Amino acid sequence: MNQLPTADTPAVYERVRAYTENRKQRVFIMTFGCQQNEADSEKLLGMALEMGYSQTDDPAEASLILVNTCAIREHAEQKALSKIGSFKKHKKEHPDCILGVVGCMTAQAHRTEQLKRCYPYVDFTLTPSRIHLLPSAVLAVLEGGRRYFLPDSGDPLECPDVRELPVVHKESFRAWVSIMYGCNNFCSYCIVPYVRLRERSRSAHEIENEVRTLVENGCHDITLLGQNVNSYHGDCRFPELLERLDRIEGDFLLRFMTSHPKDADPDLIRVMREGKHIAPHLHLPLQSGSDRILAKMNRHYDLNRYMDTVTRFRADLPDAALTTDIIVGFPGETEEDFEATLAVLKRVEYDMVYAFLYSPRKGTPAAEMQEQIDEKVKHERFDRLLALQDEISAKKAKAYEKCTLRVLADGQKAGSANTLTGRTDTNKLVHFKGDASLIGSFINVRIDRAEAFVLYGTIV
Ligand code: 5AD
Ligand code: SF4
Repeated sequence: MNQLPTADTPAVYERVRAYTENRKQRVFIMTFGCQQNEADSEKLLGMALEMGYSQTDDPAEASLILVNTCAIREHAEQKALSKIGSFKKHKKEHPDCILGVVGCMTAQAHRTEQLKRCYPYVDFTLTPSRIHLLPSAVLAVLEGGRRYFLPDSGDPLECPDVRELPVVHKESFRAWVSIMYGCNNFCSYCIVPYVRLRERSRSAHEIENEVRTLVENGCHDITLLGQNVNSYHGDCRFPELLERLDRIEGDFLLRFMTSHPKDADPDLIRVMREGKHIAPHLHLPLQSGSDRILAKMNRHYDLNRYMDTVTRFRADLPDAALTTDIIVGFPGETEEDFEATLAVLKRVEYDMVYAFLYSPRKGTPAAEMQEQIDEKVKHERFDRLLALQDEISAKKAKAYEKCTLRVLADGQKAGSANTLTGRTDTNKLVHFKGDASLIGSFINVRIDRAEAFVLYGTIV
């Protein structure tokens, strides 16, 4: 285990509070990207409240605006930049408002430079490994009146220190728990190892305490997060961590993501089968069905090895859900390579496929590869893949008709006050009539009708 640095000191919070006290200061946080970012934003909010800000959903009344950015694809970065740009007017009208940009985008030198030069109203940046230093960044702007661009420390093992951070969970019934940070895999297309640095695992004991406290406080749905949970290396391996958490008493479901096919071992499948609380769902990103492309992606498995895991999983957990990620249009992908991917989709019949158009990321090996694929070809392949998977998902969903499933009610359907939304243990979206007071509870729902991505049911 690596020694984690400590969070900002109470004295720093105290000094920020001297500015916020009795002044109705509000914080607005906007989050882009993955669940790891959502989890980080809950920590940013916790710190902001501790500094004396109260939360607002309206950026117009905010005196601290935080944009938590994602860098996984160009589109995500452009969306964040455009959002940051939209705060220019607000900053002009409220020069005292502090605008901070945090998250993956800010860990890339060229983006920080761009923010410095082209977005003069951005007051500070903070990388994902240093979010615990938010109070220092805010204080530096408040006291120093200068802009503050905090790069990574240069230590690839620096960790966001979550032990003492005052986290505010958005929902009481559902929570994310980061079990590790960073990634060592360097898939050739991926920016994550550069912006979230090397793997650091939290201690199993610390994770156990966090999960137990959540369960004791009525949390029913807990997702363990890591870029590659299967290479968790705290004081035990991932299957054992799952077993330990599964022994916690209470009414809860444990989900986890993401699993890397090169590390998902038989032990994981055994623990999933034997566990009382472990969700029957495995997210196993394939990325491509062509061995040639998998090698160029630096994925460290071939299709045979991947299919061995799928076969074992299906044999041991026949009713469980299997989902995947696919990248369409990786450099050098031929029609034949792409068809190999389609063939795997047909063979495996995933419950859900998250497909992405390949997006070159500055600094990654794939961005430098010859044979970048024409955008038109990428889109055409992407549409074909989605059409195939829509059919498969619809067929898989049909199997749920007339079944009664446990569903965790998680909200109201937009625009329909008496329709609730919920998730099955296999993470399927369900719509059903019900009262808002049910949100946050497990309910049994009989599925009347199934579409590819939504099941419609009735409470039994
Ligand atoms: N372009 C497109 N998709 C990407 N992903 C990661 N990097 C890229 C990229 N450069 C996808 C992978 C990964 C998911 C989280 O995002 O499929 O599993
Ligand atoms: Fe990116 Fe590969 Fe690490 Fe996943 S395992 S975060 S795709 S480098």
